[in-house]
Amino acid sequence: MSERNHGVALIGFGGMGSRHAELIATVENLSVVGVWDILPERLADARALGLKAYGSQAEALADPAADIVLVATPNHFHKEISVAALDAGKNVICEKPVALDTKELAEMIAASERNRRLFVVHQNRRWDEDYLMARRIVEEKTVGPVYHIERRVMGSRGIPGDWRKYKAYGGGMLFDWGIHVLDQMLDLYPEPIVSVHCELSFVLGNDCDDGCRISLRYANGRTAVVEVQTWNFITLPNWYINGSGGTATIDGFGRFGKISTLVRFDRNEAKPIVTAAGLTKTMAPRMDDSVMEQPLPTVTADVTDYYRNVMDAIEGKAEPIVKNPQVMRVLKLVEACFESHRLGRSIPFEQA
Ligand SMILES: NC(=O)c1ccc[n+]([C@@H]2O[C@H](COP(=O)([O-])OP(=O)(O)OC[C@H]3O[C@@H](n4cnc5c(N)ncnc54)[C@H](O)[C@@H]3O)[C@@H](O)[C@H]2O)c1
Repeated sequence: MSERNHGVALIGFGGMGSRHAELIATVENLSVVGVWDILPERLADARALGLKAYGSQAEALADPAADIVLVATPNHFHKEISVAALDAGKNVICEKPVALDTKELAEMIAASERNRRLFVVHQNRRWDEDYLMARRIVEEKTVGPVYHIERRVMGSRGIPGDWRKYKAYGGGMLFDWGIHVLDQMLDLYPEPIVSVHCELSFVLGNDCDDGCRISLRYANGRTAVVEVQTWNFITLPNWYINGSGGTATIDGFGRFGKISTLVRFDRNEAKPIVTAAGLTKTMAPRMDDSVMEQPLPTVTADVTDYYRNVMDAIEGKAEPIVKNPQVMRVLKLVEACFESHRLGRSIPFEQA
């Protein structure tokens, strides 16, 4: 638990900036001390909430009441603002995707090191219930050792908002949701990845991708699929986890799903299914008591633990949960995804 008060200067007061303000208001020893946004109406929104509105970015970075600057602008500004804030002696929380490429991220990490200030990325979906359920299923071997896992998020309304539709702003769904689900997958499975294959989708004809389908092959033989789509009218489960002892699905971001586990290895009867081509028993479900269903695990998650961890890390009492080498690894994988799509084939990753 943090021993002193920390003040946050928020840069960018749109959807996520205002969500940060709401969450921070619930965290002990942490408060938003001021807001900077290039739009006067957003500054007016901040004032209406009783928050101080700065007159410029420079004023925000010079505020002695703020030891943390939180960057929640469109993606192409993350590097420039984060480096300026670190050079001004502030600790920095930066929204995802941290940067447009690994070169930018290296500059941000260098600024953090030369100024001896914390630089940490807001990968808040590590606290999502469905992710924590998937973790428990994998770690507790509920379906036995897992050999294949699929992780999907599927919307039906295209790329959201305005700037997210343009490459120049760091738009596109691989950067938007892809970065979250890849971060989850690599946190869940940190083992080396030998190859990646990615296809971006452009169903809606935007300047940047409206979805991505990514296949990963791990050095230990495991495989994973990560998919983000924004134009679907029937969705697939958020998680599909296959182990040698069963299968689990998690859907509705953790609200429903099921786990089927094999309990009798000695029985595997199935009632044949009649198809035009003939009978199939191979592709029929089991009919006996060899498989048992069980509910999803119960998890508790508090996303505000993210801020508590940041305060503890600033005070030198804890390691950041979201570590910069992890963030760098995910961004390298994103770069490999863009390259795989460009070449139209799988490419080696980590182990050639
Ligand atoms: N971690 C999450 O769950 C999550 C969720 C949503 C968005 N985000 C991230 O948060 C960031 C902001 O997204 P959003 O949905 O809030 O976008 P948004 O468009 O709603 O808000 C962005 C705000 O930044 C302001 N802005 C633009 N350039 C600026 C600059 N140079 N200086 C100061 N303010 C500037 C805009 O006027 C706007 O108010 C993005 O990086 C996005 O990826 C993260």
